[in-house]
Order: sequence, then C-alpha cells, then structure tokens
Amino acid sequence: MSNHLKNITLRIWRQAGPAAKGNFETHVVDEITDEASFLEMLDLLNDKLITEGKEAVVFDHDCREGICGTCSLMIDGQAHGPQRGTASCQLHMRQFKSNDTITIEPWRASAFPIIKDLMVDRSAFDRIIESGGYITAETGGAPDANLIPISKIVADAAMDSAACIGCGACVAACPNGAANLFTGAKIAHLSRLPQGQAERYSRVEAMVETMDEKFGSCTNHGECEAACPKEISIDVIALMNKDYRKAKFANRKDLARK
Ligand code: FES
Repeated sequence: MSNHLKNITLRIWRQAGPAAKGNFETHVVDEITDEASFLEMLDLLNDKLITEGKEAVVFDHDCREGICGTCSLMIDGQAHGPQRGTASCQLHMRQFKSNDTITIEPWRASAFPIIKDLMVDRSAFDRIIESGGYITAETGGAPDANLIPISKIVADAAMDSAACIGCGACVAACPNGAANLFTGAKIAHLSRLPQGQAERYSRVEAMVETMDEKFGSCTNHGECEAACPKEISIDVIALMNKDYRKAKFANRKDLARK
C-alpha cells in the first residue's frame, strides 16, 4: 500500500456565526498520507491551529463510517467530494495529488443555515420526519422476522431507500435546494413495506407539504442522485409523487375504509 506523503493547500470557509460574514482562509497541511481520511486531515489541521493558539475549524462528524450523515462538506464544489457513493468521512487522501488546492465549504442551501464554519443546521429535515416519517404502532416484544412474508424484491427496494443517512448532500447539490430525494427515500422505505400501509397516504401528504414549506422545488436536475453517498435512485421521487397525487385526489376516507 502506498504511503506517499502529500502537501495539501486548503481553502476553508470560516464564518463566526449564522449572521457573520464568512470568508475563505488558506492553510497548508504538510506530509499527509494517502491512508489518512479527509476528516483526519482536518483533525491534523485543527491540531496545528490549536498549537498556534488559533481557533479550530468547526465541522460536523460523528460515526466516521458513512452511517450518521453528519459530515456535510462541499469539497471542490461537490457534495462529499469527488468519489461517487462516498460520504466525506469515507473519503481518503489518496483521491488527491500532492500540492493540490482543495476548497472546502459548508452545504449551501437556504434551508440549512450555517451555524459556524463548515457546520450547518439541518433540523429542517427533522421537521419533515416529525410530520410523518414513522409508523404509529404499539411497541411490544419483537415479532418473529418472518411473521409477515415480504418478497425479496420488495425487501431489497425498501432497504435501498432506508439506506438514506439524512446527510443533506441531495439538497446541497440541487440547484433549487430541493429535498425530494431525502423525503422520497424516507417515504419509500415505509410505503414499500406492509407495516407502512395504514398511514401511507396521510404520511405522504404531510411529509411532502412540510418539505414544500422548507425547501425548494424539484425540477428533475438529478444532481441529488449523483451526490448521494448511498446512491439512492431518483425513482423514489417518482414513487413519492405518485403517492402524493393519489393522496390528494383520491377520497382518503374511502381508502382508509378499504
Ligand atoms: S461522520 Fe457519520 S456519515 Fe460521515
């Protein structure tokens, strides 16, 4: 395995707070290995800044395994950087050449206001989930996994939608700041399963309308699918739109009685 050492110049967005004026700061990170992750490279930069008595760069991270969705970085103008299907925390420095200059920005979307530096407030996603992204059911003992038979095709499709980590790359990559891929994935993973049927139409109506309040409109650019670290297909948007039309035009009281 290569252990080539690289010197990297970083242009990093610094912003003291939501209302402050931001600007790019330039820093150099020396002798970073190919094996270092992108966030480890930022850790090294922060160690250096702290040693010099300067303020560390604020960025979000938690799992560093592509699971939690917090590492929201726009790297050289691409959400999560140049490697397809990869969250920022899974990106490694082998993707870059020595003496590269890398520009790092926060997500740029009006629904995700900047908190500080590279950290944004993605709680608008929480409002969409709160409006219906769950199944209302009594909790109890876990049922046997095979109690409700589900075909493998349906289970796989539901699992593909459930892979959404809510990172917001879809919104950041969309020229309209739309959240249709996120909302579509959250709706599809429930509407594809038997347990999600009881609230299927009330759920889609509430979630789409909350999404419309907070985010821009989808005009089918498809940038969301390209930026998604979990490679979720824009098919989920078509499914969401189909269910939303049904929910709006069908008599939902009749549907509930069926
Ligand atoms: S830090 Fe959890 S997905 Fe990147």
